[in-house]
Amino acid sequence: MSNSKKFPDGFYWGAASASYQVEGGIENTDWAKAAREGRVPVCGVACDHYHRFESDFDLAKSLGHNAHRFSVEWARIEPIPGQFDEAAILHYRQVLKALHERGLMPLITIWHFTLPLWFSESGGFERKDAPVLFARYCSFVVERLGDLCTNFSTINEPSVYGSNGWLRGSWPPFKRFALTDLVAITNSGRQHEARATKSFKHFFDWVFVMKNLALSHNAAYRAIKKVKPDAEVNFVHHVIVFEANWNPFNKIKAWVANYLWTHVFMKRTAGHYDTIGLNYYFYTKFGDKREWKKTDMNWNFAPEKIYEAYMMLKQYKKPVILCEAGLADHDDSDRAEYITKQIEATWRAIQSGVDVRGHIYWSLFDNYEWALGFAKRFGLIEIDYTTQARHIRPSAYVYKQIIAQNGLVE
Ligand code: BGC
Repeated sequence: MSNSKKFPDGFYWGAASASYQVEGGIENTDWAKAAREGRVPVCGVACDHYHRFESDFDLAKSLGHNAHRFSVEWARIEPIPGQFDEAAILHYRQVLKALHERGLMPLITIWHFTLPLWFSESGGFERKDAPVLFARYCSFVVERLGDLCTNFSTINEPSVYGSNGWLRGSWPPFKRFALTDLVAITNSGRQHEARATKSFKHFFDWVFVMKNLALSHNAAYRAIKKVKPDAEVNFVHHVIVFEANWNPFNKIKAWVANYLWTHVFMKRTAGHYDTIGLNYYFYTKFGDKREWKKTDMNWNFAPEKIYEAYMMLKQYKKPVILCEAGLADHDDSDRAEYITKQIEATWRAIQSGVDVRGHIYWSLFDNYEWALGFAKRFGLIEIDYTTQARHIRPSAYVYKQIIAQNGLVE
């Protein structure tokens, strides 16, 4: 008996990228400024994808992909508040046409982490009017690109953006909240008090920003629908799967963590998404003694646990598009296994009643991994940053084979 695991007709298969991480030459953002100040690695020309998108899409096509997720750069499109740059829009129109010519269905992310300087320097998502400004930008993008694209994601990974920017303090605007800082208040002295106060403030800023991001998405959703009622709009949610061993305290911990990380944002945006974009990278089990194999990011190698991420989203009763999942694996020794297992788990989620519409691997090629620079290699395609040469990794052909079969055939 054949043991094939086929996906629905019209399933999207492809890979993703994001403008700042691949395009190169973007200098008017909060990240570029942070790099000039030596706080994060310089991105520079990155993969020079801005000039090489056509040949890069040739490669995606040669690997059998039928879809591609990418982001447009806010700082290019709106370099000055309220003034939209036609040349930038023209560029992205060419990108969209190049995708269509190669049979790649475009999925656009309107904002993927980097902010135009005018916005970040005036408070970014701490601004009360951020939802209005964000919705204005989103509706412009859809007005000008909506004839060439139907799938729009407003925000990439609000939970990651908020926690790295305001709690961990590792990304712009580098605000850090630490319980140890609060403990400092028990030590006497102004310096300790100041540290604790600052930390507290960052925490409340984070609470505000998370709420403001949800309001921004909701405002953008409504604005986009006015411009293009048939657009399929979502935001892309980073879901961490928190589980626990038998211990009831660990179980409560996992429940609270899942609630805060994943469900609060889903509830705040209720009624404002047509599909759900899922990004999956992390699995963690409280009280677990198992020694997990690690990826190059030192994350647990747990592709099969993506099943639980789909299950967490099932209650929201919307189609799910897997918009990112993948691993850093410099020698490509584990990528094929990872992809195959994650696709198998995606198939199981469909059997369990989740309407999954696509599998988009992160990433098409190696790129700028934010505060970690260029060292981490997520690509199906390897980039030689000295020559900009592209080399297809063996795992990309395993993925190609799965796509050709529209699933797993044993
Ligand atoms: C982000 C990507 C990032 C990837 C790997 C996601 O959080 O959307 O920009 O490169 O994870 O860390």
